[in-house]
Amino acid sequence: MSVARAAAKINVAAIERNCSRLRRELLGGTSLCAVVKADGYGHGAVQSAAAALAGGASSLAVASAEEARELRDAGVRVPVLVMGALSESELAQALAAGAEVVVWREPYLKAVAAAGGGRVHVKFDSGMGRLGTRDQAEATRVAEAARRIPALELVGVMTHFATADDLDDDGFFTRQLATFTNWAMEMKADQPELIVHAANSAATLRDRSAHFDMVRCGIAIYGMDPYGRDPAVRGLEPAMELSSYVAEVKLCGAGESTGYGRRFTAESDTYLGVLPIGYGDGWRRGLSNNADVLVGGRRYPLVGTVSMDNVTVDLGADPSALKLRGERAILIGFQGTERITAEEVARRLETINYEVTCAITSRVPRSYHRDGRPLEGEAPRGGTPALDTIRR
Ligand SMILES: Cc1ncc(COP(=O)(O)O)c(C=O)c1O
Repeated sequence: MSVARAAAKINVAAIERNCSRLRRELLGGTSLCAVVKADGYGHGAVQSAAAALAGGASSLAVASAEEARELRDAGVRVPVLVMGALSESELAQALAAGAEVVVWREPYLKAVAAAGGGRVHVKFDSGMGRLGTRDQAEATRVAEAARRIPALELVGVMTHFATADDLDDDGFFTRQLATFTNWAMEMKADQPELIVHAANSAATLRDRSAHFDMVRCGIAIYGMDPYGRDPAVRGLEPAMELSSYVAEVKLCGAGESTGYGRRFTAESDTYLGVLPIGYGDGWRRGLSNNADVLVGGRRYPLVGTVSMDNVTVDLGADPSALKLRGERAILIGFQGTERITAEEVARRLETINYEVTCAITSRVPRSYHRDGRPLEGEAPRGGTPALDTIRR
């Protein structure tokens, strides 16, 4: 079995199945927009996009102009929405990539027209308090103005929920949904073909009345649970495995320590395994003395400080631990009957699963497979294969 100091393997079939599973949740006319920003939440934007489209997504969303460009350069032809704020030069880049952009102020419409024009979505801030206008009348004025400017095509109206992932939110989600629905239905009455969209993964799985014409799902397409629970409960399948290997096994005598700051001292003789992965790979320092790792199908505790390039695990007092030298180690994924999810790692770090996979750095090579079979046309990270070569 080949091992690598740090490797992320992504099962594109899992992304496809997660998209099919989400599509089954949707009412007849609702489409799935796959959110592949932040390099597909760390999974690789282009490969994730191809898998999501194969799984039934019909459009894509990203946060930046650069991300839209990357998709186009890889041969993506479906609509791409840039959801983030864009500076003047970024706006020109997004429009040149044929991406759709988000608007909420009238002067910005002129900037979009001056930068070449294109398809726009008006964002009403119904409660998130970030991008978009909180003023419903302004949102309406912007939509009307967009219809009047020949260089622009008003294609959508949107909002974003602040608490869709919090089922105990004192009704905030429901109020946000009602506020948006009132406005969006007025807009739709004027322009029936308008694409109304609001739901992220959590809202998609929470409330069908938030689906409208399109849902924008990110976390769930990668098989992570938007509520931070076990993804299997909602039929989601984690697409990423993060692995390393046991590069060294050594005896740590009672009273001896390992790692920076001596944050682990053995109480009795034990064997320590050294895995060459660390915070330089995105395996965060907050996991010091605070994670488990799978080796040979068993869980072992990570002990001591996570350093930039190495971590140590306590393999126990039995000298048979020496035989584990060279074995694969799973940091996120399955081995035997054991499983470590991004949600488990997130709980340890008191953060969310999104941050766990996004944090995995470019030093970790991504490779792609379909239920264990390598993909043809697979390209190392950094290269961008044409979409056709990685699509079935
Ligand atoms: C505006 C917007 N829509 C949709 C999404 C997708 O959210 P999720 O990954 O929770 O499905 C995001 C992600 O943060 C977002 O910023």
